[in-house]
Amino acid sequence: MHAMILAGGLSHERDVSIRSGRRVHDALRGSLDRVSLQDVDTELIPSLRFGGVDVVWPLLHGASGEDGSLQALLELVGVPYVGTTSKSARVAWNKAVAKAVLGRSGISTPDYVTLPQSLFREVGAEHVLDLIVARFELPVVVKPARGGSALGISVVHKREDLARAMVHCFAYGDTALVERAVEGIEVAMSVLGTGDDARALPGVEVVVDGEYDYDARYNPGRCEYFAPARLTDEQSRIASETALLVHRTMDLRDVSRVDMILDSEGRAQVIDINVAPGMTETSLLPQAAEAAGLDLPTVYRELVETAAA
Ligand code: DAL
Repeated sequence: MHAMILAGGLSHERDVSIRSGRRVHDALRGSLDRVSLQDVDTELIPSLRFGGVDVVWPLLHGASGEDGSLQALLELVGVPYVGTTSKSARVAWNKAVAKAVLGRSGISTPDYVTLPQSLFREVGAEHVLDLIVARFELPVVVKPARGGSALGISVVHKREDLARAMVHCFAYGDTALVERAVEGIEVAMSVLGTGDDARALPGVEVVVDGEYDYDARYNPGRCEYFAPARLTDEQSRIASETALLVHRTMDLRDVSRVDMILDSEGRAQVIDINVAPGMTETSLLPQAAEAAGLDLPTVYRELVETAAA
């Protein structure tokens, strides 16, 4: 079988994707007849058409990879692939749309507003910032409505820091999502499988000194991870059930990661959904798989074989 790993692309998460792609590629070498690593460039379509590819794993993070467009291309070309379909990826990618879908299924997410950049020009930046402060008690989390790897995210504790957070956010997208900051235990829940066969891996707890930004995520030492998370049985049950409910509600396939905060009232508040979770050396799904006693090359091979079947 020839499995092609797609990594790179032109999103802000290109470097992370290349790191994820290399790790998965290296792990699969030896257990499959042929594994190739391909960037998304002008060679992609000829490689898909004439390269004898049996299955693709789109490991692109961020726009083009997680927004469903690459999956739509694969559907058009008719090549089986690992992961969520284009339709469901598109819904999961837009955090505001995903929140609305989750809310209808009774899944909690932090209270929020979305603010297009154009609004700041139309009614004046200071006025919008005043509205945010009137609507939410600080701190709030400011993040791009579409994006990943904590790029463009700030936690804002003071009114005077809001403008800078907005500018930072709009560097990564044209719509900001401002969310109430929820206190609690941050846990990343990875899910493998599809529908009734999906299962949640042990949670990975993220404890960060300062902000959990891009630098903290991908440079060892800035945050501490506990895999498995230090949760009570009840908290573990809530986290697993929530992750599986999100995975099924959003119609996610094969692999996902649901990031959440377990708040002081015992609720899981979902803060992010990843249809192409990172697979780098500091990423969370590989840590969860290891905590579950799973062999990563076997996990990856099974994902590829399931998609190809
Ligand atoms: N968006 C990155 C890759 C992650 O959260 O794992």
